[in-house]
Amino acid sequence: MSILSPAVESSLDSAAQQNGRQQNGRQGRQAIEPRKVAFDYPEDLQPVWSSDVPEFSIAANSISLLMPYVEPYVIRAIKSASGELEGELAKDADAFCRQEAQHHHQHKKFNRLLGSHYQGLARVEGWMKRTYEWLWRTRSQGFSLAFAAGAETVAYTLARWTEARMGRLFSNAEPTMATLFLWHLAEEVEHKSVAYDVYREVDGRRWLLAVAMFWAALITGVFGIVGSLYMLSKERRLFKPATYVAMLPWSVSFIFELLPAMAVASLSRSHHPTDLTDPLWFSLFLDGYDPESGTIPLVEI
Ligand SMILES: [Fe+2]
Ligand SMILES: [Fe+2]
Repeated sequence: MSILSPAVESSLDSAAQQNGRQQNGRQGRQAIEPRKVAFDYPEDLQPVWSSDVPEFSIAANSISLLMPYVEPYVIRAIKSASGELEGELAKDADAFCRQEAQHHHQHKKFNRLLGSHYQGLARVEGWMKRTYEWLWRTRSQGFSLAFAAGAETVAYTLARWTEARMGRLFSNAEPTMATLFLWHLAEEVEHKSVAYDVYREVDGRRWLLAVAMFWAALITGVFGIVGSLYMLSKERRLFKPATYVAMLPWSVSFIFELLPAMAVASLSRSHHPTDLTDPLWFSLFLDGYDPESGTIPLVEI
């Protein structure tokens, strides 16, 4: 099965040969490159952008909806610590914030289209906005940084989970949408350790990391479910058994990957995100980014 067009595949092959890069390991810290990718969504883009796996596109849409609220919160937390960071970590934190800013900016463009199809999503977005504003107002800097590290653990686990099922989940998906989500996940892999390192530098309490990580995962899960149920109802898929036959195995398998990842990340003294082996596909895909044109190869599966 081909994931990319032949021209793109050959450029990725040569990138792989030139690379020979270390994927992980604390000695091989990955450079973080802020990329400005402008996604031009087709005029006739449908909110259910996968004909083969419509339920997946709806679940992914609900995660997209959350990005303009959770990612600014994470950026704000990391920026609040900027005065306490030095050297490579300060540079990485800056690049991290620039990547996250691009993510939520690009998702926001798509979310406007979602909002025009599903008017009721404005209310869900209002709840999202108020939740993160409340967190920022009422929690300590330590909690916010721990929450950011927790949210990044969830994002990294989601990236690995998705990559392992990419051929099925993005089969015949609208290419711009597949590329948006895979670009975002690829950069989540690239900057997987930054929020964790910032939290360790500024606070580092393991119990607080465990608590905040739990809340980061719970809030993502609750809003992911609420958004999905609303869009499923609008698409008249809410009461179809096929919806749950498709979505239940994904939910269960993701939870079974996420819970051990969260436990290790928050409770193990010796753990560091760079101990985890990254899927190679993401970094090869990012090598196709062209800064001149602000484009990245379209993913067609
Ligand atoms: Fe992101
Ligand atoms: Fe991230």
